[in-house]
Amino acid sequence: DEVQRVDSLISRMTIEEKAGQMTCLADAFRPFNPPNPQAGIQGEKRLSEEIRKGRVGCLFNGIGVAGARRAQELAVKESRLGIPLLFAGDVIHGLKTIFPVPLAEASAFDPDLAERSARAMAEEATAAGLHLTFAPMADVARDQRWGRVVEGAGEDVTLTALLTAARVRGFQGKDLRRADSLLACPKHFAAYGAVAGGLEYGSVDISEETLRETHLPPFTAAFAVGALTTMASFNEINGVPATADRALLTDILRGEMAFRGFVFSDYTADEELIAHGYAEDERDAARLAVLAGVDMSMQSGLYVRYLPELVRSGAVPMGTIDVAVRRILYVKMALGLFADPWRSLDEEAERTRIFTPARRELAREIAGRSIVLLKNSGVLPIDPDQRPNIALIGPFGEDRDNLYGPWAFYGDPGKGVDIASGLRAALPGDANLTVEPGCGISEAIEGGIARAVAAARSCDVALLAIGESQTMSGEAQSRTTIEIPAVQQALADAVAATGKPVVVLLRHGRALALHDGVANAQAILATWFLGSEAGHAVADVLFGKVNPSGKLPVSFPWESGQEPFFYDRKATGRPVVDNRTEYRARYTTTDNSARFPFGHGLSYSDFVLADLKLSDAALRWDAAVEVSAKITNKGSCRGSEVVQLYMRDRVASRTRPIRELKGIERVTLDPGQSRTVHFRIARKDLEFVGSGNRRIAEPGLFDIWLGQSSVGGLHTQIELYAPAPSI
Ligand code: IFM
Repeated sequence: DEVQRVDSLISRMTIEEKAGQMTCLADAFRPFNPPNPQAGIQGEKRLSEEIRKGRVGCLFNGIGVAGARRAQELAVKESRLGIPLLFAGDVIHGLKTIFPVPLAEASAFDPDLAERSARAMAEEATAAGLHLTFAPMADVARDQRWGRVVEGAGEDVTLTALLTAARVRGFQGKDLRRADSLLACPKHFAAYGAVAGGLEYGSVDISEETLRETHLPPFTAAFAVGALTTMASFNEINGVPATADRALLTDILRGEMAFRGFVFSDYTADEELIAHGYAEDERDAARLAVLAGVDMSMQSGLYVRYLPELVRSGAVPMGTIDVAVRRILYVKMALGLFADPWRSLDEEAERTRIFTPARRELAREIAGRSIVLLKNSGVLPIDPDQRPNIALIGPFGEDRDNLYGPWAFYGDPGKGVDIASGLRAALPGDANLTVEPGCGISEAIEGGIARAVAAARSCDVALLAIGESQTMSGEAQSRTTIEIPAVQQALADAVAATGKPVVVLLRHGRALALHDGVANAQAILATWFLGSEAGHAVADVLFGKVNPSGKLPVSFPWESGQEPFFYDRKATGRPVVDNRTEYRARYTTTDNSARFPFGHGLSYSDFVLADLKLSDAALRWDAAVEVSAKITNKGSCRGSEVVQLYMRDRVASRTRPIRELKGIERVTLDPGQSRTVHFRIARKDLEFVGSGNRRIAEPGLFDIWLGQSSVGGLHTQIELYAPAPSI
């Protein structure tokens, strides 16, 4: 029925109305506070006129049921064909209840957790009148200078694919037509995480092999679980901007990946084809984007302005437009918007389902699970019952403006729990907590360091809350170095010089290169941007209520200059072996290892991995082998560990990375308890993109490691045997 309705609509639509369906504009019906810089550009009056005329199909980045109803009434009751609007928005890590930034949450190495938080976000977003979120970010971030590292799952393709799929499942729920299901838009297609030098909006020059091996699989994973939209990336790839890249958006995306939904351009990215030097003018830009496979133009308005004439002149076939409109209308249909244009516009849900205590509890749990214990000489956990004298030093101690991280503009900053409040809530009433900022995020405070040093001298333990502001990461926030700002480094060095035990609480949206007083602290916790419940979660971990179990989704190099740095790099003909450093692949000031590698993260428990076993060292072509090992909690408290399976193809017709993550298994164990973890390895796990860009596996030897990070671990080998020749 609905399918017929879509066909009949298309047959009755004018080219102007078709171009309207293919247009997404910033929502002016629902201003919110703090204002979204990308909304409110069109006034409500002007936008109302556009909706009445059928010149817009989607509104984005406004929230609130009342405004959405006003807009939907216009579309359904006052436009000629009554096609409902789609309401989209950037709900990246929460609407009002702010969850940890996606990079932080990736540290849990736990797809189930990612699915749960996405579900909770979807429930809030749909209660506020949204149908679609521009998330999850599926870009694999290969350079930590890039600001958008914070929005994804880090540097590794396997982890990103697992978490992207989990987030899509969580957002979309079991049935897209339900009022609390939020359509996902895995973005940005493609290779945005490979921008040269980590420079935002920069260019990407990569091999077809790297594109397919590293950057496309998370999208494949997202589409496999039902994502029905995606967004073309801002960057060019090998000389062609993604927004105009037909080979990418049509041949690969639709032909090879069998994507069935519709493609958004990013914000004015079609218009930007002119600045790229790829389109002559706006008309040409609209032509190139639509012919490449961009179905929905975001914010530029180029499609409504130019598609009618482009079709009339024969420069764009009507068939191309019809296909795009059909995709968009099918998605609206899949969401149930034709059956019920008022879905997700429920005032009662808006009043009762947002920022609830249950959701804050979940945010606290996830924040605790997102913290990574990078180092601990035994100073943690702190026993609050000992009434320790604690000095909380650094610009983030009482700060509430940098709790959430980027892309949380719907959240109310006043409602987040800062670290000092979290500590006070957890400490006995007569415990002594001194708070001293010492300096600002990037600027000195007169006498600040001296006061911080005095506070450190009279404490039992100094907590150093330092790192990046939330405006140092996110879109358009690339940095040239990934260091702690100089003034905070000076503060850390001065506090370290007191000789008191120091616990560093890092605030950050990327991996950092740590030095001196920070790197040499007795303990370091990566606490990222943890969201609404940040302070409680930090206190939970500091005082041992939560045993840390996070693992790094990004490598922390020794120095900024090692970027782009990722653990799954290619080998070199001259590796550093046996401490031989002359004429070897290293920098003059450091070897090319990580200070804290991908997958690293400690616990208050002590986990020991032993008894590595292979079911068979020979892997027959169509068979599988099992690798297992025993993990034991030798510590004195219950805790969780993530056992990680890595592989290396020893010799291949295209060189392979020195290690690749192939599986993760999280186990929770009581003190003294052991469990055997099992991984199954089949030929498919050994495949790579070979010549002709086909996925192939080659017979031969493969290294296998089961470990607790991307370095070291228990080692064995398997051999893949060629298929038996057919006679
Ligand atoms: O979804 C975002 C995208 O990631 C970056 N540019 C703006 C879009 C809409 O806000």
